Amino acid sequence: MEDIVGLCKRRGFIFQSSEIYGGYNGFYDYGPLGVELRNNIKQAWWRDMVQRRDDIEGLDSTIIMHPKIWKASGHVDGFSDPMVDCKESKLRYRADQLFFAPVTVEGETIGYVSVVECIDQQAVAEKAAAEMKRKMAKQGELGPIELKEYTEAKPEEYALIPSPATGKPGSLTEPREFKLMFETKVGPLADDSAVAYLRPETAQGIFANYKNIVDTGRVKVPFGIAQIGKAFRNEITPRNFIFRSREFEQMEIEYFISPNADWKTLHREWIDTCTDWLVSIGLDRDGITEDIHPEDKLAFYSQATTDLMYQFPHGEQELWGIACRGDYDLKQHQEHSGKSMTIFDEEAKEKYVPHVIEPSLGVDRTLLAVLSAAYTEDEVPNDKGTVEKRTVLKFSPKIAPVKAAIFPLLKNKPELVERAQALYKRLQRRWNVFYDASGAIGRRYRRQDEIGTPFGITIDFDTIEKDGTVTLRDRDTCEQRRVTEGELIQYLEEQIDG
Ligand code: GAP
Repeated sequence: MEDIVGLCKRRGFIFQSSEIYGGYNGFYDYGPLGVELRNNIKQAWWRDMVQRRDDIEGLDSTIIMHPKIWKASGHVDGFSDPMVDCKESKLRYRADQLFFAPVTVEGETIGYVSVVECIDQQAVAEKAAAEMKRKMAKQGELGPIELKEYTEAKPEEYALIPSPATGKPGSLTEPREFKLMFETKVGPLADDSAVAYLRPETAQGIFANYKNIVDTGRVKVPFGIAQIGKAFRNEITPRNFIFRSREFEQMEIEYFISPNADWKTLHREWIDTCTDWLVSIGLDRDGITEDIHPEDKLAFYSQATTDLMYQFPHGEQELWGIACRGDYDLKQHQEHSGKSMTIFDEEAKEKYVPHVIEPSLGVDRTLLAVLSAAYTEDEVPNDKGTVEKRTVLKFSPKIAPVKAAIFPLLKNKPELVERAQALYKRLQRRWNVFYDASGAIGRRYRRQDEIGTPFGITIDFDTIEKDGTVTLRDRDTCEQRRVTEGELIQYLEEQIDG
């Protein structure tokens, strides 16, 4: 993760928000390359999920909506995380990310250890337990360390569990619910009637507009409504770079189906579609696993939820949630708004409130996943044939921030520069490309490798004196071949837009 964060800062992908004021926890800004990568991810999703499908319509709803929407959806009363405070250090933890275990020696409990969720939490806790035994000079076998979430602690254990901040027991509070929605006020009145919320998900904007789209479009069940947009959550512990932030973006689909449909099969189809899409933008299929939520942990309205998990640098974590939400949301809005949410199914000659399957993906989490999948350190020969180390981002051409770099072999030969500039201008009309004339050609390649530019195009003397062909270099294999401009454009088209 440190390497990725360092590269992102160095090459202008991602900066901490408000950095000149010391940063602002949970907020990130995207620099010149980051914004290109981000836009490319969103465009690829929109193209594949909306434009290239006949059964999905797009939407762009507002971030601030009528507060009654959040009452109906259950967010006002129920959208919270359990938190625990350390009274001494004033630090706050998510209770479901804080783990503890009693430390036993020959069956006798000699104290407790605690650890904040991390990739090697078991090893950290075991080390702390061994240290405790040593300090207390206890003889005998240490019992196994069985970590449990702080939410499962018994009230009498709260005072015994050490704070991860101080290492001492007695300062942790019991878990309390912490509301995650950001509040704001709308209009000139400063009283409670003006309270509104920044949306914590884009999904409710879709449910709130479902009737508009049914009434104005030509949709028939099954059909989906897709939306990309900002979401805000006052996360207790934003961390792991852009993985969990307070302002982020979601790409969500509500896919409406008949209550009589075989929802299990449709759910499976969505899980496969989502997995294939992640692979199409460069994630390794083997790195994606499915986490099926056990029935007893499902929200009361949910029929099934499967999360696509990805092996992030900080461990395997949720990337894409695919939930079967039944008719819960539409029925809630029907009840709270008094507006009918039924649709007439022409084929079945039935009127009903449809059920919904919801694939919900974070843009920023996808960006972190593609960055970690692409980040590679390898060794390649330089101009002189000597093998040297390089850092390369092996982005799929579909989402790479810069698609190709155009280099005149020498910058002091006007005929090379002119020809390279002409090609650069031609390619720039369609794609984000880069022109670089400075430094040795090998150094120019390296600079592009580090930001993940898939293709390097060099204009040399053969181009202007012989057959007009250019050298096309592949970022990953470093192989070079000569192609005509026509072949080049066709190849780039296939690789970037295919
Ligand atoms: N409408 C359903 C919903 O919002 P969620 O599991 O809370 O479900 C969906 O969020 C996706 O949004 C997650 O799988 C993740 O990719 C992204 N996401 C959620 N919270 C996030 C956060 N604090 N920072 C970045 N991405 C987040």
